[in-house]
Amino acid sequence: MADFKIWMNGRLVLQAEAVLPVNSAAVFYATNVFEGLRAYWNERDGELYGFRLADHFARLRESMKMMRFSVPYSVEDLFEAVRAVLAGNEVREDVHMHLVAYVGGAGLDATSPTGLYINPRRRQRVVEGKGVSACISSWVRTSDNAIPIRLKCGANYQNGRLARLQAKVDGYDEPIFLNGRGRVAEGTGATLFMVRKGRLCTPTTSNDILESITRTTIIEDVAPNVVGMDVVEREIDRTELYTADEAFLCGSGYEITPVTSIDRFPVGTGEVGPVTRAISTAYINLVRGVDMRHPEWRTPTYKPVRL
Ligand SMILES: Cc1ncc(COP(=O)(O)O)c(C=O)c1O
Repeated sequence: MADFKIWMNGRLVLQAEAVLPVNSAAVFYATNVFEGLRAYWNERDGELYGFRLADHFARLRESMKMMRFSVPYSVEDLFEAVRAVLAGNEVREDVHMHLVAYVGGAGLDATSPTGLYINPRRRQRVVEGKGVSACISSWVRTSDNAIPIRLKCGANYQNGRLARLQAKVDGYDEPIFLNGRGRVAEGTGATLFMVRKGRLCTPTTSNDILESITRTTIIEDVAPNVVGMDVVEREIDRTELYTADEAFLCGSGYEITPVTSIDRFPVGTGEVGPVTRAISTAYINLVRGVDMRHPEWRTPTYKPVRL
């Protein structure tokens, strides 16, 4: 199957043609910010729904502002670009996209010109019911006062890369970061929830984690309204993870990924637990539009609509 074309600064181009100058800050210092999001094909409606696009666009703009890029794109511009890349590739299947805003100028203090590309790709869906093995990383999550993890800057992901490669070398699927204060933070591309003593808990956003849109969706809707559990946002200690009944990672890419062992301690029974399973089913039904509540979170790609 051929790769999708990339949308780059207003044009649809082949992957090989989407190139950046080697002396740009984007290439040399990883001066980029990005979003990763999915759109889901709904057979019933014959429509491709982008999930919470407005929230992803707001966060991309916030990331540009925070990293002191010029911000030449409105939410409407970003929406038009997403529609152009999906319609231009005639995408009628589940798709994952990276929206990347970068600084094309040279030098550490370059703030412009800001360019944008969107790279749609077929990304494997998470296999429901299958868990991953995790470890507590010996790498510490970068802190809000160093390079803020609250937003999505490409350079942040060097921290995640080190943790991930170490985890793989040591025989685990995924690392879990502690922050500089020794509290549980998150995974490399996903936030973390655990079930312990009958409560569904996740670290607060002051624990050096991304302000995840999936996390918010679970807190605002999926857990209380579908699964019947309110989420407790609080600090979490490492040893609580070792004695948790269930744990899962979540994110636009990770969807709901069960964690069935941490540092070789089985999480609960070592199988995917009932809360994780219920949240996973409810989340997938919501993003695809099988659960028809919250139509404002599913933006049709083909039907004319304003964001
Ligand atoms: C570091 C990090 N944490 C958490 C997440 C999950 O965020 P979201 O639910 O907004 O995709 C991501 C993925 O984007 C991430 O890169």
